[in-house]
Amino acid sequence: MRFSQTYWLNYKNLKPERVSWHEGLNVIIGPNASGKTNTLEALSMLCGWGQPRRTKLKDLINWDVNGGAKLYSRFSGEEEISVLIKINERRSIKISGKQGNASVLRIYVPSLSFWSDDVRLVEGPPAVRRNFLNQLCAVLVPLYARKLYDYKKLLRHRNYCLRRGQPDGLIIKAMAPLAAWLWSYRRTITDLLKIGLKEISNDLLEFDFDIDIKEGSEGFFDDPLEGFYNSLFALKKEELNKRVSLVGPHRDDLVITVAGRSATQALSRGQRRKLSVALMLAAAKVVECKMKRRPIILLDEVASELDQEAKLDLIKALLKGGWQVIAATADDRVSDFPGKVLRIYQGGIST
Ligand SMILES: Nc1ncnc2c1ncn2[C@@H]1O[C@H](COP(=O)(O)OP(=O)(O)O)[C@@H](O)[C@H]1O
Ligand SMILES: [Mg+2]
Repeated sequence: MRFSQTYWLNYKNLKPERVSWHEGLNVIIGPNASGKTNTLEALSMLCGWGQPRRTKLKDLINWDVNGGAKLYSRFSGEEEISVLIKINERRSIKISGKQGNASVLRIYVPSLSFWSDDVRLVEGPPAVRRNFLNQLCAVLVPLYARKLYDYKKLLRHRNYCLRRGQPDGLIIKAMAPLAAWLWSYRRTITDLLKIGLKEISNDLLEFDFDIDIKEGSEGFFDDPLEGFYNSLFALKKEELNKRVSLVGPHRDDLVITVAGRSATQALSRGQRRKLSVALMLAAAKVVECKMKRRPIILLDEVASELDQEAKLDLIKALLKGGWQVIAATADDRVSDFPGKVLRIYQGGIST
């Protein structure tokens, strides 16, 4: 799927404007604080994602207006649909005129977004890789987001109990099936990702590597539920000492190795970033293959962190993928960009 035309009203600092998008590559160029990230966030909400973390709904509405904000888009591609999102105290979604919800919307318009932190997918902390996996899983299975949310809520309760030395047996009982579900799903997706990576890496990378999910558990397991309980048993003392939960999907990592050594050690900074990009593109391949729809890719300041050669490789790979891409950057040294260049200044977009 792809954005064909969007319109927004009272959304953060963005000026009310109709924007037409190229079906291939789009780049939004503008100085700091001009509204690039806001634009990508608005687009990501139009694809059914929630507001950015730690942002309240009311913060999405322009500070200077009374009333709500609106986001609207026409999509084309595998089918034609329109999406209208109204933001007041609540968020309401209409898909082609009918009441809809976010998880349905994510199926209609699968999208993946990558923010500047994701360039550090390989070298960054495990949380960056978990977020990456979570996003991919949530696109593929709408239920995933819900289960992860429930799991995290229980995890907060459990940590509270551990801190205070209170009993947590009931919480563990509720957590275990969720943990097992998340684990087995992440394993499945990691296997798909491996296949996607094989296709991508030939074009992009000059070295071999392996990825694997390493669960936040004690030792390897076949049955995830059993693995969860066994790990809890094995780490019981340590958890009580440290007063924090050490077992579960919140401790997972996607381990990346090159000839048996950790990728962070084995690869140069440039290679690590290229590998990060390969992971993003592999995720797009997986989505396309599983959902039979082309995902939209949103990139915020991702390319700006790459060297010139990697940037060109990325553009080539994106073109080859045939996805609609909307990228934002403060770097205005673009020449011969094979797509649409949009300029943004103080919230106003011009082409
Ligand atoms: N609710 C809001 N109303 C008006 N302006 C906002 C609102 N929320 C954020 N902003 C402004 O948006 C600007 C940030 O835009 P952003 O998209 O992050 O910039 P960048 O182009 O650097 O990515 C900031 O100047 C911020 O003050
Ligand atoms: Mg920004």
